[in-house]
Amino acid sequence: MIRRAELGDVDAVRAIGLQTWPVAYAGLVPDEFITDGLAQWWSREAVERGIRNGVTLVAADGDDLVGMTGLGRQDDFWVMWKLYVVPGHQGKGIGKALLDAAVAALPDGTPELLLDVLVTNEKAIGFYRSQGFGEPRRVPDRDLGEDLMWMSLDLHRT
Ligand SMILES: CC(C)(COP(=O)(O)OP(=O)(O)OC[C@H]1O[C@@H](n2cnc3c(N)ncnc32)[C@H](O)[C@@H]1OP(=O)(O)O)[C@@H](O)C(=O)NCCC(=O)NCCS
Repeated sequence: MIRRAELGDVDAVRAIGLQTWPVAYAGLVPDEFITDGLAQWWSREAVERGIRNGVTLVAADGDDLVGMTGLGRQDDFWVMWKLYVVPGHQGKGIGKALLDAAVAALPDGTPELLLDVLVTNEKAIGFYRSQGFGEPRRVPDRDLGEDLMWMSLDLHRT
């Protein structure tokens, strides 16, 4: 079941990142990237800010949260900053269900959904391509550096 995250979910949402990042990014990035990223993007404050100010959706399996996505505005774009399914639940359609729910949660008329992904994260890039993401025509005014790249899903809405 996919639902909106509430403030009471902060610790369970954090736990998804803490479980998933070290496995997903091992060997793709230096260890400091993982340590720094968990401290910066998965702190209680950061997760709470995402729930309050953006759209955070979670996938529940009984009482457990097994996946999450976090979206927010950047300039006049909607960006999916996070999409994570815990290792034991990947490959069962949860990522796709979260993505579909994220698109459905966007305001009517939203023309595209952007995301950022590590250039070396071939599994995630393959997943995003399979879901229709490709090269963006335009991107937010935010420098991602060399390790990350933008992808875009055309929502075909006007
Ligand atoms: C990437 C991730 C979110 C995908 O979620 P998931 O639940 O594992 O993927 P799903 O089971 O929903 O896959 C849905 C579809 O995508 C396809 N797919 C998944 N990975 C793919 C890949 N690497 N290449 C091509 N297709 C892929 C599946 O075949 C499936 O298609 P089907 O429904 O026709 O069988 C998840 O694996 C994950 O959290 N990975 C680790 C963290 C990460 O890298 N997150 C992204 C950060 S930017």
